Amino acid sequence: CGIVAYIGPKDAAPILLEGLQRLEYRGYDSAGVAVCGRGGGLKVRKTKGRVADLAEALPARFKGSVGIGHTRWATHGEPSDANAHPHLDGSQRIAVVHNGIIENADELRARLTADGVAFASETDSEVLAHLIAAHVAEGTELEDAVRQALTHVVGTYGIAVLDAEQPDRIVAARNGSPIVLGIGEKEMFAASDVAALVRYTRQVVHLDDGELATVRADGFRTFTEDARTTAKEPSTVDWEFGSYDTGGHEHYLVKEIHEQPAAVERTLRGRLDDRFHTAHLGGLNLDARELREIRRVKILGCGSAYYAGEMGAQLVEELARIPAHAEPASEFRYRNPVIEADTLYIAVSQSGETYDTLAAVQEVKRKGGRVLGVVNTVGSAIARACDGGVYLHAGPEISVASTKAFTSTVVAFALLALHFGRIHDLSPAEGRRICAGLKALPDQIREILAQEQRIAELAAEYAKHDGMMFIGRVRGWPVAREGAQKLKEVSYVHAEAYPASELKHGPLALISPELPTVAVVPDDELLDKNLTTLGEIRARSGRVLTVGHRVPDARLADHAITVPKNEPELDPLLLSIPLQLLAYHAAVALERDVDKPRNLAKSVTVE
Ligand code: G6P
Repeated sequence: CGIVAYIGPKDAAPILLEGLQRLEYRGYDSAGVAVCGRGGGLKVRKTKGRVADLAEALPARFKGSVGIGHTRWATHGEPSDANAHPHLDGSQRIAVVHNGIIENADELRARLTADGVAFASETDSEVLAHLIAAHVAEGTELEDAVRQALTHVVGTYGIAVLDAEQPDRIVAARNGSPIVLGIGEKEMFAASDVAALVRYTRQVVHLDDGELATVRADGFRTFTEDARTTAKEPSTVDWEFGSYDTGGHEHYLVKEIHEQPAAVERTLRGRLDDRFHTAHLGGLNLDARELREIRRVKILGCGSAYYAGEMGAQLVEELARIPAHAEPASEFRYRNPVIEADTLYIAVSQSGETYDTLAAVQEVKRKGGRVLGVVNTVGSAIARACDGGVYLHAGPEISVASTKAFTSTVVAFALLALHFGRIHDLSPAEGRRICAGLKALPDQIREILAQEQRIAELAAEYAKHDGMMFIGRVRGWPVAREGAQKLKEVSYVHAEAYPASELKHGPLALISPELPTVAVVPDDELLDKNLTTLGEIRARSGRVLTVGHRVPDARLADHAITVPKNEPELDPLLLSIPLQLLAYHAAVALERDVDKPRNLAKSVTVE
């Protein structure tokens, strides 16, 4: 979900709509805005659907120089006009937009209903409007009313609140769901993500958990839940407005695929040591002695972050010979995991906000474990919850399907594995080999991207099928999993990923001319095994597209995409790039909503 708020001399609605469009990748099943005009009284419009639908629904006279807006990804209550934010109290005085989950919403709703409050929606968020209204009705200033209302609330929130009778201010609060203030010239902004602000200002202030802010046109004040004023230093957003644009590309997804060479360069920058053939990672907060005591590595993440973690686990195990394993953070957090003192936990997240991953980190920490973060968003909740970590510096990722953050995550794991390896038993010569491989990656990715036209043609052809099988062995297995995931999420073509070795133990029954196979076939010590598997598929009349380093015998594959060869440990990263292009162009051929696939959101900040 996304929040944006404005107060200043300008007309709020166009600024709110523009901001919401920038945030739409975070949720897009309904949207709404509320503004307060000079004549007093709130004007509110909300609608199921996209921000563009909301813009169309706005009457010409929707004027006001203070306002709040929201774009939603449904959790409590289906997407509908009524469930869209902002939510109002019965007297239409208070308007609230909310990200997060109010855990005791049912109890608060029952209490308010008993007091005669009528609810207009099924959302947990609406209780906030009624709670705050009850306080302002007693003559309390808005900031105190919000503060007092929040003392009744259990759960996570990022909120912005507007009071028709105190239209000189907006009150924002954060607990577990980000809020950032934007400082302009005699105008102020608030949002859940800097993406909504960078067009107007690069001076920002991030609220901390448990912090509130009163935002007026000429400045802001921050304070804690017990009304103590806090001192905040503004920081400068280091991304240009252009990083949040499609930059001439048709979609963010393809723009971000093409940004990968530069993203990898940024992940590597200043981190390779050519003298000792190792990696320098300043933020780990772990010295060599502590690292030597680590007996196991457990990697946690969701979606593509989890698959990047699977590649990371292989890198750590191969280069450092420390047993390493990745698990979905969403599963880990629910199964009462055993936390061991000599295990290093690593949380992976592009956004740094995924609730399941954050909850997993909190569970490890609560049990006394040590967690590092591999995170893209600086200062995000997961980054702050960890004991140290590696920032990706991949730049903002807008498309829901992760590409450059995925690739930069794998690079960050290669750096970690190299660093761990050189502290353990990886020789200087081996360290040099991996350093050289890492340096070669950006140009090799460029070479793969130059094949886009041909991959697009293959994608259009393969997208005609209802489903596809993706297979890979050992290092190729996470490549196949992420390749299948990309295809599913953006093209809605069913894709099943299987270890190539497991094919004959069941899914071979599916193979037919109708179900083509994408086979990840690197030129490594398992090449012969993979070619045998291709033979088994061909014997069942299956169509095959290989992604590897050589074009196999025409009897074994209908088509082949080849990628430049790096070191075997780093090849999985390069083998993943054509599969991103394959998914993207399949989605384009099928005319899908590429950057905002149905039912998904960029960051799932709820359970
Ligand atoms: C959502 C997105 C996925 C993403 C996952 C983890 O489910 O749709 O594309 O991989 O969250 O996101 P994170 O920000 O934690 O990497």
